[in-house]
Amino acid sequence: MTIGRIQTPGVLPEEEVERSLRPRRLDEFVGQEAVREQLSVSIEAASARGDALDHVLLAGPPGLGKTSLAQIVAEELGVQFIQTAGPALERKGDVAAFLTALEPRAVFFVDEIHRLPRALEETFYPAMEDGQLPITVGQGAGAKVVTLDLPPFTLVGATTRAGLLTTPLRDRFGIQHRLEHYGPDDLGRIVRRSAALLGIEVEQAGARAIAARSRGTPRVANRLLKRVRDYAEVRGDGIVTEQVAAHALDLLQVDAMGLDRLDREVLRAICEMFSGGPVGLSTLAVAVGEEQDTIEDVYEPYLLQRGLIERTPRGRVATVRAWRHLGLEPPADGVKLF
Ligand SMILES: Nc1ncnc2c1ncn2[C@@H]1O[C@H](COP(=O)(O)OP(=O)(O)OP(=O)(O)O)[C@@H](O)[C@H]1O
Ligand SMILES: [Mg+2]
Repeated sequence: MTIGRIQTPGVLPEEEVERSLRPRRLDEFVGQEAVREQLSVSIEAASARGDALDHVLLAGPPGLGKTSLAQIVAEELGVQFIQTAGPALERKGDVAAFLTALEPRAVFFVDEIHRLPRALEETFYPAMEDGQLPITVGQGAGAKVVTLDLPPFTLVGATTRAGLLTTPLRDRFGIQHRLEHYGPDDLGRIVRRSAALLGIEVEQAGARAIAARSRGTPRVANRLLKRVRDYAEVRGDGIVTEQVAAHALDLLQVDAMGLDRLDREVLRAICEMFSGGPVGLSTLAVAVGEEQDTIEDVYEPYLLQRGLIERTPRGRVATVRAWRHLGLEPPADGVKLF
């Protein structure tokens, strides 16, 4: 029961559903084999030595499992998990408050670490490297610097934009992983796992149909599964078959490639308003009425991965495949890549 929010009994709000579907252990985490295997070795080695795990940087587009993995690391190590986010840390004192409260070997998770204020990065360097936290005590002429010794800890940083991290910060992460979009088989497994947890009856082909249109993203797969379930309950007998999934997803305007309305608007804007590009990101953002960051973090990675757009030094260009996907004729003189 949440205070201040009206809740229908028996209906979980989205965040609670997301939490309930979150894998808790490494062996529940589907896919990303290389990352899982390497983390598993590092965790086992650190545990055997009784050391804190090296600092871990997790990069990749939203909804691919960075937060889940950070929690799993703490769970597998059997240590405290403390969470904050880059933009929530404003002053040196905020960082000091977190660091000095950590239990030995704790996982300190900093989400959106690329949005950590630059001035605070330097507070992290000695903490990450030597377990030391220099703090200034007193003011004016009487001020002096006292160095506190911190218990060993693991900083787990998550970012959708690894490129925005400064080199000194990035280099202090001994373990770095990039999560990639999931293939249809892994997404199918995720859909079936979530269906089982939510008590939804889903046929193999129904799970495959949802997986195929989930833009490679577990969070999207879970969201579509819930919407398809609604449709199955209202228009069918509650069972998610291939046909039910296809109808429900058509209704949600998710197309065969998994593109949603905004994905298509981005492509359409490049093709129709800017003759296929190149068009700069900020212009494109205005054209579709969306934040530039959202386009760059959420939409672009998948469109790039599916070969629908390309990034050139002069902006974004729609590929022939994009024109065809929209049912448009590509320009006779070809797409302009340079
Ligand atoms: N490998 C996986 N196996 C099973 N479920 C997963 C996996 N990865 C993600 N999920 C599901 O997707 C949801 C979103 O994942 P998570 O919150 O970890 O993503 P994220 O990368 O932290 O996203 P953001 O960048 O938006 O913070 C989770 O609640 C979980 O249910
Ligand atoms: Mg997250």
